[in-house]
Amino acid sequence: MLTLLEQLQRYTASDALPMHMPGHKRNTALSPYLQTLGAELDVTEIHGFSDLHDPSGALAKRMEDAAALYGSRRAWWLVNGSTSGILAGIFAATQPGDEVIVARNCHKSVYNALLLRGLTPHYLYPTAFPGESFSGPVTAEQTETAFQTHPGTKLLILTSPTYEGVTSDVVAVSTIAHAHGAAVFVDEAHGAHFGLSPDFPQSAVTLGADLVVQSLHKTLPSLTQTGLLHLCSDRIDPAQAGFWLSVFETSSPSYLLMASIDGCVALLTKQKATLCGQWLDVLAAFRPELKHLHLVHTADPSKLVISTRRADITGPELMARLREGFHIELEMAAADYAIAMTGMGDTAKTLERLARALLDIDGTLSPSMPSPPFALPETEQVLSIAAALSAATEQCPFRDAVGRISADFLWAYPPGIPLVTPGERVTRELADYAARFSAVGITLYSPKNLPSGMLNLVKTP
Ligand SMILES: Cc1ncc(COP(=O)(O)O)c(C=O)c1O
Repeated sequence: MLTLLEQLQRYTASDALPMHMPGHKRNTALSPYLQTLGAELDVTEIHGFSDLHDPSGALAKRMEDAAALYGSRRAWWLVNGSTSGILAGIFAATQPGDEVIVARNCHKSVYNALLLRGLTPHYLYPTAFPGESFSGPVTAEQTETAFQTHPGTKLLILTSPTYEGVTSDVVAVSTIAHAHGAAVFVDEAHGAHFGLSPDFPQSAVTLGADLVVQSLHKTLPSLTQTGLLHLCSDRIDPAQAGFWLSVFETSSPSYLLMASIDGCVALLTKQKATLCGQWLDVLAAFRPELKHLHLVHTADPSKLVISTRRADITGPELMARLREGFHIELEMAAADYAIAMTGMGDTAKTLERLARALLDIDGTLSPSMPSPPFALPETEQVLSIAAALSAATEQCPFRDAVGRISADFLWAYPPGIPLVTPGERVTRELADYAARFSAVGITLYSPKNLPSGMLNLVKTP
């Protein structure tokens, strides 16, 4: 069978006259950018190429290959990122008004699904990862308590691994959810490499989750926006998943993105042992002897979490020094740590360069007394997200909002985990938590583009 890329190449080399979209007509002579971006291969759904939303023939077989690579029952290719798989998966697993248990450290797309589907969330707050200022795993104990408190719950939603590479015990929490008649959705956006080698954690696909979403583009050799939605049990109707994907994904999928998914799955099907082995070797060799900075080891060895807690530098300062002094761009910085993301495309050379730069910076630092680690504080949902978003609002500095109800989301991006969601009461702890971000220069974004430090509140009469 031809790969999708070969099929595209064969088609575009033929004399087929494109009297259809896209408007560049594969005429790269129009301007050099079209050539550079590979426009000569850029087609969308045309005769002979099957339909992303109704895959048949070779395309259906290629999606089966993706399912086989991870061991799921069925996989759908995503061209609108994990974001689209999260929206479609949560819609497929729920009905309007359903109660859901949600780990509060989920990505903003999960909250968009809650809002659009009119779901009632009950939040699980993971405790802090030992000694660091980010979330640890969702535990079996808190999951059991949540289901006992909310017995009508239809779906458990959690992120595993997190941005920092923290995994939850998916077997244990899925067993609990299933015993209470609920399905389990795992956001594995950061773990598309899980399960591809015994030296990476297992994928939630094989650990009892019912639906799992993965961003291929985050860690594997695939173009940005590509991902997979996996169906792993018969608790979810595949027709529902397909329907909601057709709602949330573009009706003009890019075949360049699709060829990239095809290439990535085919490459890993043939060479996952070699490629994961090379990546893991490079990671194992990365052991800079740091004195003040330190590496935090989470379940995912591919995430290099560099803690600044014992050094006289903040996460954003470390990120800026690597950028300005060494032309190394990190994935994200939080107040007292920063994340260097590795991927299958890294080599010994790239990580040696990072190690040298970290050692160089580390040599200029002094020790500092670590401030206490902090994690997202618990708060109370007073109004639904929808009710708070449609309420009359007024702006107020975050620090003066204690006791009031938020009418907006606010997050640092990345990681895109809301500090506060519409309808939640602002507590002193929450205002202090937000202040820790502002103090180190991390911008907090609101979808309504509020001035920095401000929050939209539900207007009091
Ligand atoms: C945990 C998590 N889930 C989902 C997403 C969305 O993924 P995508 O960018 O592939 O839509 C992100 C994005 O960073 C994320 O960090």
